[in-house]
Amino acid sequence: MPKLPPSGTIEIAPSILSADFSRLGQHINMVAPNVNMLHLDIMDGHFVPNLTIGPPVIRKIRAICDLYFDTHLMITDPDKYAPIFVDAGSDGITFHLEAVSDAHTTIQRLRDMNVAVGISIKPSTPVELLLPVIAEVDMVLLMTVEPGFGGQDFIPESVSRCAAIRKMLRKDQRLEVDGGINPSTTPIITGAGADTLVAGHAIFAHPDPAQAIQSILNAAQKSD
Ligand code: DX5
Ligand code: ZN
Repeated sequence: MPKLPPSGTIEIAPSILSADFSRLGQHINMVAPNVNMLHLDIMDGHFVPNLTIGPPVIRKIRAICDLYFDTHLMITDPDKYAPIFVDAGSDGITFHLEAVSDAHTTIQRLRDMNVAVGISIKPSTPVELLLPVIAEVDMVLLMTVEPGFGGQDFIPESVSRCAAIRKMLRKDQRLEVDGGINPSTTPIITGAGADTLVAGHAIFAHPDPAQAIQSILNAAQKSD
């Protein structure tokens, strides 16, 4: 089972939300040689105003791809559905702090399933609300757009929020950013401490997805 890459590297996680679903396998194969993680956006039409894919799709791509499956649950009931996504092939589950009443219990349940655990906050959620549980997770996912849709513009206020979260994390914990990440926005957000970059539109709407990944990686070096 693929593991979350240990911290200390910049990782790109292509979001298949912007892939061509009529040829999803081909699109995944175009990026797979260049990355370690694949980002899977799960939306339920309640937590966010959009619907995407479910476990059957994950199960099918699990059979053709051995990247780390970074599953981002934008759903109102992660406690109920996480086991189904793990069974379908997810290697890590990220849930939203805003969706649960007791994040500690959700984290424990995910730990019992032997997956990496991420916690996410929307752009309007104060970063301090992470404090009670932040030590218990492998990764924080900071939304840098309002969750629900690909191809939106990066929210500039995310930079200071990213830096604030980085200060709360240990070195062995990852800080992922999601939304509007492209070669222009990358240096400022990696400079603020992000090390795990989700990108959908910038990769899959590009005529050469592998080249787009390289451009984001090159941009990340600029913040060093
Ligand atoms: C949005 C999703 C993102 C989305 C990012 O709610 O969580 O993962 O795919 O898309 P881009 O990179 O196009 O902003
Ligand atoms: Zn996402």
